[in-house]
Amino acid sequence: MMIVLGSDHGGLELKNAVAQVLAARGLETLDLGTGNGDSVDYPDFAEKVALAVSRGEAELGVLICGTGIGMSITANKYPGVRAALVTDEYMAQMAREHNNANILVMGGRVMSEENARHLVDVWLDAEYEGGRHQRRLDKIARIEQDVRSGSI
Ligand code: RB5
Repeated sequence: MMIVLGSDHGGLELKNAVAQVLAARGLETLDLGTGNGDSVDYPDFAEKVALAVSRGEAELGVLICGTGIGMSITANKYPGVRAALVTDEYMAQMAREHNNANILVMGGRVMSEENARHLVDVWLDAEYEGGRHQRRLDKIARIEQDVRSGSI
């Protein structure tokens, strides 16, 4: 399984911590930047990660900016992307069980490294429940189709 990672300068440190968690789990990762602390624009990195997931080049992604808000707004523009901004264990678990989130989003300036490491494990260990939740995801996919076809 391939997991792509992306951050801006506000999420760089936390992204490096997350990369360690993923490596410790033996997962294949690809860091799509940013690579240093210079100020950059979060949509550029959300785009790289979201495109890889949207195109099926990666199964999952992790995006981190200062709050996680900009990354989630941007990533959710891409078809098939379900990017979930999480701050606690319950959200990380539900992001997978109910929303089948394929991109985990966190904020490097709003949470501890320890919490972030834990939330990555919770998200990866949780399983999508399907059932009534699939009906809801299908409705999201239908909205994406309407946007693509220009009917809304
Ligand atoms: C960058 O200063 C900051 O705006 C960005 O990291 C993020 O928090 C945006 O949502």
